[in-house]
Amino acid sequence: MSEMIAALKEEHASMRDLLDLIEREAKRPEGPDYGLLHEIMAYCRTYPDQFHHPKEDLIYRAICRHDPRVTPAIDDLEAEHEELAIASREFAELVEQGLASGARPPAFTEMALAFVAQYRGHIEKEDREFFPSAVEILSPEEWQELGDQISHPGDPLFYQTAGDRLQALLSRKFDQAG
Ligand SMILES: [Fe+2]
Ligand SMILES: [Fe+2]
Repeated sequence: MSEMIAALKEEHASMRDLLDLIEREAKRPEGPDYGLLHEIMAYCRTYPDQFHHPKEDLIYRAICRHDPRVTPAIDDLEAEHEELAIASREFAELVEQGLASGARPPAFTEMALAFVAQYRGHIEKEDREFFPSAVEILSPEEWQELGDQISHPGDPLFYQTAGDRLQALLSRKFDQAG
């Protein structure tokens, strides 16, 4: 398997944990920890939106170039990424309302659970259809080309910071369990 796919799968695993955290907070009877949700959404709007999804878009375009016949099976991944970016922004705005007022905004729980479901569905589809197709279809040369394109996607310090932030967020999953 491509190292790139392995890294994307690891990022999916982390994202699933963050989605579990959002769901848990949304269902908390005494109200969510808006500060934690604020941190999670700030992360979602930086690393996944600006790095994870663009990496997938590059792979997706490579598959489309390789064999346009397979793309309907994977659906329009880039459009889904745009929808997720919009959903992330909208849910983040709702979290900001909660953070500012200290009160649960109208329809907050429903919006949170819909956001989690949309994201989980996207990740599951990629794991089930997109990644296996990419592994099957792309040649070693094409993976090499992709690797060259995304080997320097941004400031390495940002990567480090994103990694630290993610670990800090995920550690809350266990600190606050129950
Ligand atoms: Fe994606
Ligand atoms: Fe993904």
